Amino acid sequence: MRSSVLRSVKTLAKPAGARGYSSESVPDRKVAVLGAAGGIGQPLALLMKLNPLVSRLALYDIANTPGVAADVGHINTRSEVAGYMGNDQLGQALEDSDVVIIPAGVPRKPGMTRDDLFNINAGIVKDLCSAIAKYCPNAIVNMISNPVNSTVPIAAEVFKKAGTYNEKKLFGVTTLDVVRAKTFYAGKANVNVAEVNVPVVGGHAGITILPLFSQATPKANLADEDIKALTKRTQDGGTEVVEAKAGKGSATLSMAYAGAIFADACLKGLNGVPDVVECSFVQSTVTELPFFASKVRLGKNGVEEVLGLGPLSDFEQEGLEKLNPTFHIRKLFQILQFFRKCCTCCSWHQLFGCFSLE
Ligand SMILES: NC(=O)c1ccc[n+]([C@@H]2O[C@H](COP(=O)([O-])OP(=O)(O)OC[C@H]3O[C@@H](n4cnc5c(N)ncnc54)[C@H](O)[C@@H]3O)[C@@H](O)[C@H]2O)c1
Repeated sequence: MRSSVLRSVKTLAKPAGARGYSSESVPDRKVAVLGAAGGIGQPLALLMKLNPLVSRLALYDIANTPGVAADVGHINTRSEVAGYMGNDQLGQALEDSDVVIIPAGVPRKPGMTRDDLFNINAGIVKDLCSAIAKYCPNAIVNMISNPVNSTVPIAAEVFKKAGTYNEKKLFGVTTLDVVRAKTFYAGKANVNVAEVNVPVVGGHAGITILPLFSQATPKANLADEDIKALTKRTQDGGTEVVEAKAGKGSATLSMAYAGAIFADACLKGLNGVPDVVECSFVQSTVTELPFFASKVRLGKNGVEEVLGLGPLSDFEQEGLEKLNPTFHIRKLFQILQFFRKCCTCCSWHQLFGCFSLE
């Protein structure tokens, strides 16, 4: 399902013996990182600078981007790096972007759920997406800011309001759930982690994260109890890191890795590399939920195909049924509340406008 970011070099490598970088073999691609000076943003900026598919890297934050850009910009790889700081420079950062990655916002502290982040991060995401609609309406958006289950529908509403919504280009980044599921499975099954694939479907919080270990490869004969424990550990992976960091934030390094893997997949898709498949939280008809994470085939226009769930074990089927109400009702009310002031023009309101929000 995924390959290393650096493997992109092989996929679109210049002919042996060629000197320098051949711009003929790899199209120019601009990637913007919004929140680039943060815990995720900085290592993500580094990993995107190492990606040979990127020709221009725009690093935007409300503070500290000149330093990050100067630092990362000294690395002798293909892309030109520019730092942008503050709202006045947001347009410039976004202009001509092919992919915009958003890790802007506040991270979780111990005792907080991803939902607790909602009010702060929803406002940040709304403003950033309004700017995306204005300055790079055709860009692919990779949403990392939590709670992804809500920030993605909010981004969709902002784009709809601006008349730029393209459901094929909006992705919630759930790759870290896949990365964790692969690591934990490989450890338990005692198989080479580099060869492991595990689809993770649903959403990106607690029990909405549903790893499908019955479809994991290489196959391993794990006991039901082991599968339950692996599922729980994958669902609680974020909390494990939040608690271990004891107040100093949430997953940053593994998230940057996961974000770089997903952005690399989007770039490969844009460049016409066939059969690029990753799990992502996208507009979906796989279940009755309007947004859902499942395997997605990526192509020149973003989502080429949202793939189905495949055969589920009884345990996974149960998990799927459990996540539905949690996911749906709570998110719906949060989003409605957020859009309360402007919700006469939002489709969630049009659908459920008669609900009391108090
Ligand atoms: N999708 C996932 O799997 C996943 C995993 C871990 C963390 N996260 C989320 O990613 C987000 C960032 O986490 P972090 O640890 O890097 O936090 P952080 O506080 O270290 O960094 C956030 C950065 O965003 C910047 N920022 C704030 N408002 C901004 C705005 N309006 N425009 C641009 N930048 C802005 C801050 O200045 C800061 O540099 C959080 O919402 C966190 O919950 C998602």
